[in-house]
Amino acid sequence: MLFSGLAEVGDDPILQVSTMYKASNDPNKVDLGVGVYKDADGNTAILKSVKKAEQYLVDHQDTKTYLSPAGNPEFNRLVQDMLIGADHPAVGENRVSTYQTPGGTGGVRIGLDFVKACNPNANVWISNPTWPNHTAITKSLGLNPKQYRYYDIKQGVFQYQEMFEDLSGAEEGDVVILHGCCHNASGADLTNAQWDELAAMMLEKGLVPLVDFAYQGFGDGIEEDTYAAKIMSTKLPEALIASSCSKNFAMYRDRAGAITLVSSDATEHKKNASHMLSAVRATYSMPPDHGAAVVAHILGTPALKAEWIAEVDEMRERVKKMRHLFVEKMNEKAPNSGFGYIAEQKGMFSYLTLTAEQIQTLINKHSIFFMGNGRVNVAGLTEKNIDYVTDAVASLFRS
Ligand SMILES: Cc1ncc(COP(=O)(O)O)c(C=O)c1O
Repeated sequence: MLFSGLAEVGDDPILQVSTMYKASNDPNKVDLGVGVYKDADGNTAILKSVKKAEQYLVDHQDTKTYLSPAGNPEFNRLVQDMLIGADHPAVGENRVSTYQTPGGTGGVRIGLDFVKACNPNANVWISNPTWPNHTAITKSLGLNPKQYRYYDIKQGVFQYQEMFEDLSGAEEGDVVILHGCCHNASGADLTNAQWDELAAMMLEKGLVPLVDFAYQGFGDGIEEDTYAAKIMSTKLPEALIASSCSKNFAMYRDRAGAITLVSSDATEHKKNASHMLSAVRATYSMPPDHGAAVVAHILGTPALKAEWIAEVDEMRERVKKMRHLFVEKMNEKAPNSGFGYIAEQKGMFSYLTLTAEQIQTLINKHSIFFMGNGRVNVAGLTEKNIDYVTDAVASLFRS
């Protein structure tokens, strides 16, 4: 029987955390697991700018006929502009295109599908740790995943030198997945000087970046966060940038994202573009319309764009504030617990540097749910639960 030989695939660890959280009857339970932004009341609300754009679409959209495999051209233009800028040299040289994809995941998938068309045996270097789908997608395409050191979870140390060393050993034509900002899962990002140094080394060695840019605006700002995507696609002749509108537009389920391809020259680019579209055609034919239509309307309407940027600023600043409050409270409650790094890191995620036993105590005794390896979604902290959480963490440091 064809369908009877499979072993069951275990639940994604992050889904397990959600299931445990939902099943808990503890009135104090806290969800620091799933990777979505939450506001001061713990809700993942629809942005006001998104609601306005949706209303505009209800009033003005007059067809739901098919899109093309490349998706919404306005979305593609405006997103590309937001990622690398209209003045990027590749734009004038006709060697860059952006394609709307179903979320950032679709962008990574189509980007790696294109890599497979270029070299079915390509090595794909993935940070350790990372967002687990990087490895899953690489493997499902039959490409060859390789790991580079990035963050020592046990010690709580960002390993830039080790990253540099590991990637220096990569071979010409290898692809390197880089987190554009707000590294998921560590929150530790390269400085601009480190990005410069890495780009120079990758150029020298002939490595190809795939910048996964899922948190634009959650680090330092929409424009400020573009440094890695810009440097990698300017200094290197070929690059891929997978981007997501899930977090910064809070449109998780609407699946808006993109893959941007930069080729070495216009002639190569024309051929490459045909392979990108053929990968789309064979995978899902064309992306879903709604999320990208909303993003295109927001980015193309100056007043609405300003309103959206203010909403992104608010989300980022709230997470930053919770990072600082967590450190402040831990410094009061357990002065030597060493969590100062939480305030320095960026985006929604960080690791709590704790032992496996301490992590289980927080989950089982205090109903604070997060990943078993210590990764927390800082956006799950609020002014209402911060004392409960920091009291529980501080209790681990009392003998
Ligand atoms: C690093 C990284 N890349 C890509 C994605 C994909 O996001 P999307 O929901 O848009 O597919 C995520 C989402 O969590 C992510 O953390």
